[in-house]
Amino acid sequence: MASDYDYFVQQIKTNTGIDLSQYKEAQMLRRLTTLREKRGFKDFKAYSHAINGDAALLDEFLDRMTINVSEFYRNYQRWEVLERRILPDLLKKKKPLKIWSAACSTGEEPYTLAILLDRYAKGTSYTIHATDLDQRVLETAMVGKYNERALKEMPAAIKSAYFNQDGSVFQIKDELKQHIQFKQHNLLADAYDTNYDLIICRNVLIYFTEEAKADIYHKFSNSLAHNSYLFVGSTEQIFNPNVYGLGAVDTFFYQKQKTD
Ligand SMILES: C[S@@+](CC[C@H](N)C(=O)[O-])C[C@H]1O[C@@H](n2cnc3c(N)ncnc32)[C@H](O)[C@@H]1O
Repeated sequence: MASDYDYFVQQIKTNTGIDLSQYKEAQMLRRLTTLREKRGFKDFKAYSHAINGDAALLDEFLDRMTINVSEFYRNYQRWEVLERRILPDLLKKKKPLKIWSAACSTGEEPYTLAILLDRYAKGTSYTIHATDLDQRVLETAMVGKYNERALKEMPAAIKSAYFNQDGSVFQIKDELKQHIQFKQHNLLADAYDTNYDLIICRNVLIYFTEEAKADIYHKFSNSLAHNSYLFVGSTEQIFNPNVYGLGAVDTFFYQKQKTD
């Protein structure tokens, strides 16, 4: 017999298209149990019925399950590797560059990349597809307003060059926005575009089951052009990249192998 939580998982899938069974169960169950209890529902069945008819409860659930934390230049040293080792190689290639920032949350990651490209390859033609499951974070990303905390890794000179400051709010300059297309995309359910020169997907795969992760690595590999790169999060090292047609070029950077 399906458990109370399994019932909830099924209902959420039917009503939102989000498949919680592909997220690590212990972690997700813990997060959602705390929220359910806080709202006073005795079990997941009652909670899922309530969520169905209440947009605010659904919003709160989405907020809890997606975990949207991000920041500019998150794990600074990795961006240095991107700048020194990966970008020079990419810039030798055909242009314009086609880049995907998957699970981009509130936009810090695609904007960091746009800053890097502006600083080290000004005038390069490129497009960044910046996607996330959560439409609400994408709206924040499009507005491009951040607080000091999101910018804590950013050197002061970069901050003043690319943001307009109004009190404690930092507004990203419009010139960086023009290269970025924000769009909703579910990594577990939607089709993947192809021919990317670089895919950045950081700090989301840790929440998925091993099966879901493996499936996503295969899809990323199929989405990459030959010799192009995948950049993953600092706890998301791939231990068997060859299985996916990828080779490790640096810690947390993988290159699509030639298949001919
Ligand atoms: C912790 S944030 C990572 C943000 C950014 N990549 C970084 O490393 O700073 C995780 C993001 O993954 C998104 N997410 C969760 N499940 C997803 C899915 N199935 N498809 C696409 N994005 C998803 C969440 O909405 C959230 O914005």
